[in-house]
Formats: sequence, C-alpha cells, structure tokens
Amino acid sequence: MRALPVDSKVLVDGDGAVGDPASLGVAVLLANWTRTNLSDSSFSVAASQQLNHLLYVAPRNANGAISHREDQVQLWADFVYMAPPFIAYYGALSTGDTSQSIDLLQEAYDQCRLYRDILRDADAGLWKHIVLGSGEQDLTHWGTGNAWAAAGMLRVLETIRHSRVSSQFEAQKGNLTLWIDEIVGSAWKHQQTNGTLLNVLDDPRSFADSSSTALLAAATFRLASITRDFSHVLPATRAFQLIQQSLDSDGWLLNTVDPLTFNTPSAPGVHSPEGQAFVLLLESAWRDLVASSII
Ligand SMILES: *[C@@H]1O[C@H](CO)[C@@H](O)[C@H](O)[C@H]1NC(C)=O
Ligand SMILES: *[C@@H]1O[C@H](CO)[C@@H](O)[C@H](O)[C@H]1NC(C)=O
Ligand SMILES: *[C@@H]1O[C@H](CO)[C@@H](O)[C@H](O)[C@H]1NC(C)=O
Ligand SMILES: *[C@@H]1O[C@H](CO)[C@@H](O)[C@H](O)[C@H]1NC(C)=O
Repeated sequence: MRALPVDSKVLVDGDGAVGDPASLGVAVLLANWTRTNLSDSSFSVAASQQLNHLLYVAPRNANGAISHREDQVQLWADFVYMAPPFIAYYGALSTGDTSQSIDLLQEAYDQCRLYRDILRDADAGLWKHIVLGSGEQDLTHWGTGNAWAAAGMLRVLETIRHSRVSSQFEAQKGNLTLWIDEIVGSAWKHQQTNGTLLNVLDDPRSFADSSSTALLAAATFRLASITRDFSHVLPATRAFQLIQQSLDSDGWLLNTVDPLTFNTPSAPGVHSPEGQAFVLLLESAWRDLVASSII
C-alpha cells in the first residue's frame, strides 16, 4: 500500500476491477486500529478513500449494484466477496457514529441483495458468473463464482452479527442466511461420488475443481456453526476429505481451475493462489465447527 502513488484513491491497482482493491480493505482497517504510531493516519485515509471510491465513484447498475468493472457496468459474482465484506467491516468499526454504522452495514447487505437479484437463476438456485456490459459474459454457474458469493455473504452476515447494531438487522440476517443456504444446498446436489464439485457446478461436461469445492465446503461449515442446521455438513465433510487427499507433499492444492481463464484446469505444475487460500479457510472453518459442536 505504501508503494502506491500518493494520489491513488484505491488500495492497489485493480487492473480494471472495482472490487479487487477493496478486498484488501479489511486488513487495512485492522492495520489502522492496531497501529502503534497513533499519529499515523495513512491506513485510515487509505481505507476511507477506498470506501469513497466504491460508494461514490465506481459506476453502478440501474438497480444500484456497484459495478465490478471500472470502465463499464458489469456484475461479477466475485464482487460479493471483494467489496461488501469491507463495507460491512467499515460499518461495524464505525462505533462512534451509529448512523454511519447502520448505513454501511445496510449498504453491504444491499449490494449482496442487488447482485443476487441480477445473477441468481431461481430454477438452479445458483448464480451466473458475469453479466451485463460489453465484452465477454459468463452465464454459467461457475463453481468459484458461487463460492465467492456464498462466502462473501457469510462474511457480511458474521460482521453484522458481531456489530453493536446487530439487533436492528434481523430481517437482513435472515435473508443472508437463506441466500447462503440456497447456494450451498444447490451446489452439493451436483457433488460427484468422490466428493468433488465440477468447475461449472451443474454441467456434467465440466471438469473436477478443487478450489470451488474447498471454498463451498468452508462456507457450509461456517453457516452450520451459525445456524446449528447441519443438513449440508455431510456433503461438505466428503468434500473436506477429497481436499485432504488433493494436497501434494509440499501442501499445494491439486486439480484447481485456472483462476484467470475460469474454464480450464490449472496447467500441470501451476498452482492457484486462491485455491491455496481456500484450503486455509476450509481448515479453520472445520476446526471452528468441531470446537463449537463439542457439548
Ligand atoms: C508516526 O507517524 C507520523 C505521521 O505519519 C510520522 O511523521 C512519524 O515519523 C511516525 N513516528 C514513528 C516513530 O515512526
Ligand atoms: C482508525 O483508527 C482510529 C482510532 O485509532 C479511529 O478513530 C478511526 O476511525 C479509524 N479509521 C477508520 C477508517 O476506521
Ligand atoms: C428479504 O428477502 C425477501 C425475498 O427476497 C424480500 O421480499 C424482503 O424485502 C427482504 N428483506 C429485506 C430487509 O431486504
Ligand atoms: C473425482 O471424480 C471426478 C469425476 O466425477 C474426476 O474427474 C476427478 O478426477 C476425481 N478426482 C480425484 C481426486 O480423483
């Protein structure tokens, strides 16, 4: 962050993406709140400029959804993990200003809702990956896109739940819970016998993808920890076993989708940074579910 030009209004160069730089925002807010030099406002300023960019500069769809792209309005399921959790976290930390706190938590919820309104296919219970705008769209039910949406909504839900104004968000928390459950429940319907999900969840011609399998299992375990509804834990546990068997001796996750093409497996010997991160999220979600289930 300190390497960015001083006039940059976002946290890193997003290569045209609105959401991606904002995904660092939670860490920047934490860096601000835990800084030892209290005269150093640089983290706070960087976070507030990033928030300002998201809310007031980035293009929006007619329904109010903030675009995932800077140069045109285009909605990607990925956005739901990148931006709403940051907006929500900013709101939860705005403890000195209750109305700002409520407004930002509501905005984070609304972005999830507005994205779902556009991306969800009701029949499948799954989300499309990329819609609107010119250039390439991806109308498939991409595994990782659904995982980004479920896990992103989960982070918003958890942030609202742990905020001081949680009791004012009962309806929103209920909806987020249903919407996460809808995705994970619909995804596991297409689970293969060895525990994996396919890169396009409901397309049998697609290939096995460990990345989305890992993040959807993590989201399933986290959701169960909150709701104490264990209906989807069994398929997620089978997925967890598959992931454990899909790590090489150095700990790299095998059988990932190439995170840049979305529709081809990673080349032999090439690893997926996001798949690798999903393994850690899965392991910690499992650990917390087990810990919270010991009576
Ligand atoms: C603390 O931050 C201020 C403002 O950025 C800076 O001028 C000062 O040198 C910092 N102090 C230390 C000990 O780093
Ligand atoms: C940064 O931390 C200070 C407390 O040290 C707080 O007053 C300020 O609101 C924080 N900035 C953000 C953007 O949360
Ligand atoms: C919750 O979702 C339902 C169904 O989509 C919707 O009618 C309702 O307005 C939502 N509630 C809130 C607070 O957004
Ligand atoms: C799991 O099964 C799928 C077919 O459903 C197959 O393509 C994939 O290679 C298998 N994964 C492992 C790790 O054996």
